Amino acid sequence: PGKPMIAPSILAADFARLAEEAQAVRGADWLHVDVMDGHFVPNLTIGLPVVQALLRSTDIPVDCHLMIEDPDRWAVDYAEAGAHNVTVHAEAVGDPVKVAKNIRAAGARAGLSVRPGTPLEPWTELLIHYDTLLVMSVEPGFGGQEFMPEVLDKVRAVRRLVDRGELQVLIEIDGGINADTIAEAAAAGVDCFVAGSAVYGADDPAEAVGRLRTMAEG
Ligand code: DX5
Ligand code: ZN
Repeated sequence: PGKPMIAPSILAADFARLAEEAQAVRGADWLHVDVMDGHFVPNLTIGLPVVQALLRSTDIPVDCHLMIEDPDRWAVDYAEAGAHNVTVHAEAVGDPVKVAKNIRAAGARAGLSVRPGTPLEPWTELLIHYDTLLVMSVEPGFGGQEFMPEVLDKVRAVRRLVDRGELQVLIEIDGGINADTIAEAAAAGVDCFVAGSAVYGADDPAEAVGRLRTMAEG
């Protein structure tokens, strides 16, 4: 992997002060936005209008993680709004090739995410249509959960394919990333680390981003 990327998750920020919270993580590579619909996951967060407002208030590339049913219908709207990366869930997507094409045609990177219990094998050959693989290291739905190291086997498997030049995909991990877990994830071959509570729970979120990046560098 190249220089480790850090993507603070706005889920752990103060939703009443989103613009300021986005500015509080200067130096972050991506700003991770968790879109949840209360159906695909048992939690409801924010949708397109708030993402559009956030896009107007930050220069950090926005990384939309869609934890929603029927992403085939909605993903392209986030790409058209100006998101840098739009990730759909393997467990929810209907036509994964078409969705990826639509996201890319709208000018964004296309991401595919797998829950901790979802095996990678059936999806590996579809990854040629995607720019990002988002490996969930907690059950999607809530921040502040404990990291599941067993998902790193999936990271290692894809890292091998990328290093051999058989696949070109950025490997992102999401859930429970903090000072205690980031080095292990980095060693497995993660490129981009989502961190919610570890960034926004810190006194100085921007400093926390820098610290996490240094730890990921090993
Ligand atoms: C969980 C979300 C994560 C969450 C991570 O469903 O996808 O992005 O914000 O939060 P932490 O880093 O606190 O585990
Ligand atoms: Zn997320």
